[in-house]
Amino acid sequence: MRLDVVSIFPDYLAPLRLSLIGRAVEDGLIQLNVHDLRRWTTDRHRTVDDSPYGGGAGMLMRPEPWGAALDDVLGEADQSPGTAGPPRVVVPTPSGTPFTQRLAHELAAEPWLVFACGRYEGLDQRVIDAAGERARVTEVSLGDYVLGGGEVAVLAIVEAVARLLPGVIGNAESLVHESHTDGLLEGPAYTKPPSWRGREVPPVLLSGNHAQIARWRRDQSLRRTADRRPDLVAALPPGTLDGRDLEVLAERGWTVGDAAEGEARLVRLDW
Ligand code: ADE
Repeated sequence: MRLDVVSIFPDYLAPLRLSLIGRAVEDGLIQLNVHDLRRWTTDRHRTVDDSPYGGGAGMLMRPEPWGAALDDVLGEADQSPGTAGPPRVVVPTPSGTPFTQRLAHELAAEPWLVFACGRYEGLDQRVIDAAGERARVTEVSLGDYVLGGGEVAVLAIVEAVARLLPGVIGNAESLVHESHTDGLLEGPAYTKPPSWRGREVPPVLLSGNHAQIARWRRDQSLRRTADRRPDLVAALPPGTLDGRDLEVLAERGWTVGDAAEGEARLVRLDW
């Protein structure tokens, strides 16, 4: 996979050279190019921002450097083997579509991603509109809070995407049961020693009975999801749940609602 990141703080992206992703870059699984947006400024002060038309607080990023940067980066399409078509352009912004494990999988299937990191109050809309005529542009939010810029979001998105690429994680099996893969949060996990400061590892995990362990883990997963993320429980298709699943969810006040209007859904009794 080829990754290009354009930012006014290229040093912010240094962690992409460390750990799991760093190794994938060294091994050639990821071709990483980090670009300083100011390279594409033309004035003495290397200006990238200005005040918004119509008034309001804060500064916006001017379109000229971004236009020139994206012209150059997107223009490299023909020279990159495997990335002959235009890349998918990702613009991190708090007003974007939420970043989820599903979107991570979608991005992991792309041969080439270009990240445009905004600072201040974001990019002039014309940059996004113009890029949208040449490439698929997705504005992505990490969550319902405001960061100082897109760089931290890119670190998170790239880490979530890169670990899904074949060969990046040693044990691909570990991707199967992690949180969000099946719409549930992962439950608690334990390692050695079996007893620590008077706290015991749940005996079932030491039993060697794999069926019982799998059931216990699923119960924990359902309970934790019900306690922390009722929105995820409400989105579970009841057809994917067995009798024991429904029993565990019933302990937390969930039941299968009336299917009169389309698909049956899980509902909370006290809502
Ligand atoms: N830039 C600023 N805030 C952001 C957020 N929540 N997600 C993605 N990019 C951002």
